[in-house]
Parts: sequence; structure tokens; C-alpha cells
Amino acid sequence: MHKILLTGAAGFIGSHVAECLLSQGHQVFGIDNFDDFYSRSIKEQNISNYLGNPSFTFIEGNVGDVASLFPNTHFDLVIHLAAKAGVRPSIAQPEQYIDANLSQTMALLQWMKANGMRKLVFASSSSVYGNNVKVPFAESDPVDHPISPYAFTKKAGELLTHTFHHLANMDVINLRFFTVYGERQRPDLAIHKFAKAMLNDQAITLFGNGSTSRDYTYVGDIVQGIISSMDYVLSHQQVYETINLGSKNPIQLIDLVHALEEITGTPANIYWMEMQEGDVDRTFADIQKAERLLQYAPNTSLKEGLTRFVAWLKLNS
Ligand SMILES: NC(=O)c1ccc[n+]([C@@H]2O[C@H](COP(=O)([O-])OP(=O)(O)OC[C@H]3O[C@@H](n4cnc5c(N)ncnc54)[C@H](O)[C@@H]3O)[C@@H](O)[C@H]2O)c1
Repeated sequence: MHKILLTGAAGFIGSHVAECLLSQGHQVFGIDNFDDFYSRSIKEQNISNYLGNPSFTFIEGNVGDVASLFPNTHFDLVIHLAAKAGVRPSIAQPEQYIDANLSQTMALLQWMKANGMRKLVFASSSSVYGNNVKVPFAESDPVDHPISPYAFTKKAGELLTHTFHHLANMDVINLRFFTVYGERQRPDLAIHKFAKAMLNDQAITLFGNGSTSRDYTYVGDIVQGIISSMDYVLSHQQVYETINLGSKNPIQLIDLVHALEEITGTPANIYWMEMQEGDVDRTFADIQKAERLLQYAPNTSLKEGLTRFVAWLKLNS
């Protein structure tokens, strides 16, 4: 059993990772600053089931302040999920994204180096591929053309973790998540917004002509990939890997809406708008590396995952 620092523990993916780590008997220290990107009460609800668990310690604070929050604590592993997420708001507030996602990641890595902590799993994003034309997106594809400040911070984060792999002998896996959905999904993400509006007989806004596509990946499959990455870095030396976690099953936006119509039993009232700045045309993960190194095997169909999400949403809105 391991002592693990989990950043972004109160967020969507973080709360699922906390649940899984606790079920495996690990000692989990969660940190989250309840960033105002979305409501604090949602994040408090996300972790409410674990707060009483004696193996779970929660600290409210910034990742950048880890050195003062944990002056004498050694962790076997850090899972760094905390970040300002979201592409569109990063265009309006790039400096906030550079602070939260880059400067505070740097502080975390400095603290790990100073205290001899050498095992890290870092949340990157499919957004680093920008408007890659070649599909599916493979880790060996060039990722030097981000089209939003958010994507820039994730690519830069991967470069930072490499720097500390080199300087401090850190074993690192950067995971590029492809549009994650499922219970507790962030309220700003398309599936959540659409399903909520449709259940309330409200119109939904689609950007573009409906032909953009995303490799939607169920959160339970993402958690499986994170846990396998944890096991991999803990059991190997000299690791520096960047790995896609997707479902390799891209769906066009309009087909996603049709799937939600079927599951909610409500026809969508669609309001069409221009494509948004910073949004990529498509994402499509090549997951051969994850299959080979992590035995990653996403097996939740979109229909199954959406059905679980809609059932959760009905109970929680
Ligand atoms: N959800 C997706 O589809 C997706 C896709 C690609 C990558 N990611 C990445 O996965 C990670 C988790 O994403 P999520 O969807 O769960 O987002 P989320 O916003 O629900 O979770 C992130 C959490 O980090 C916290 N946080 C932000 N800045 C912090 C800081 N400086 N110090 C402490 N806590 C801080 C927030 O309060 C939030 O609870 C992020 O790094 C995100 O960029 C997510």
C-alpha cells in the first residue's frame, strides 16, 4: 500500500481516482484549491463520500504551496491532476492558466526534487495535438502547434516533467486524456451541458456544423489507465513516457446529440453558432502504446457511458 499525493482531488477525474485508490487500500492525501472555474459546492459534493475515510486526508490549498503545506511529508507517488481546465476560458485569461498549470507545476516538481520524491503521473491532454490532420493521433506525432493557451500549458507541462526526469531522475508518465465524460463530469463540458438542457427542455448551442468529432472516453476507463500508470512508474526505473488515454472511437458532434436524444428521450432543440476559437476539429487517439505498456483496455461504449451519466445527472440536478 502506498502513500499518494493526489492533486485536483475534488475535481471530476480526481474524485474518481481518489475513490479507486481508497478502494485499493492506499493512503491518499488530496489537495485542491476549489478553483472558481466551476462551483465549489459541486467539488465539495464530489469528495463528500471520502471525507470520513480514515485513509483520506484532504487539504484545501494551492499546488504551488506544497512545500509549506507538506514540509515533512514524503510521498511514494504524486498524481498531478490539478489544473485550470477548459480551452475557451484560457483564451480570455492565459496568465491564470500559465500560473496554475505551469508555474505551480514547477513548484510541485521543485518540492519533489528537494525531498527526493521520484514518481509522478501527470495529466496532459489531447489538446496538445492541435489541429493534427493525421489520424489517429499518435504520441510520436509533432505537437508543436497548440491552438489555445490551455493546450500550450499542457505541452509545456510535458516539457517540464521531462526536465525534472533529467535533473532529478524522476520517473514520469504524462497521460494525454481524450475528452473524459461520466458521472460528476465538469458542468462546462458538452455532454453535461447538452444533457442538462435537454432534460429541462431547453435549447442547446452547437458550434460549427456538427461535423467536429471527439474521442469521448468514459471516466472509469481513464481511471483504469491512471492506476496502471501508477503501478508502472512505481515498479520501473528510468521511466519517461507520454501516453494517450482515449477510446479510439471518435464521434461526430451531431451523432453525440442523437445519442443523447435517444437516452434522454428528448428531441434536441439546436441553436447553431460559428465554430469557436481554440476548438480543434477532431480528436482520435491511437492507444497502441497504452495497450502495450499499461494493458489499457477501454471497454465502456458511448451508449453505456452516456446512460450512466444521464442516470447520475437526473439524481444530481
Ligand atoms: N476532463 C477532460 O476531458 C480532460 C481532458 C484532458 C485533460 N484533462 C486534465 O485532467 C485534469 C483533471 O481534469 P478535470 O476534468 O477533472 O477538471 P476539474 O476542473 O474538475 O479538476 C481539476 C481540479 O484541480 C483544482 N485546481 C485547479 N488549480 C489548482 C491549483 N493551482 N492548486 C490546487 N488545486 C487546483 C480545481 O479546483 C479542480 O477541482 C486536468 O489537469 C485537466 O487539464 C481533462
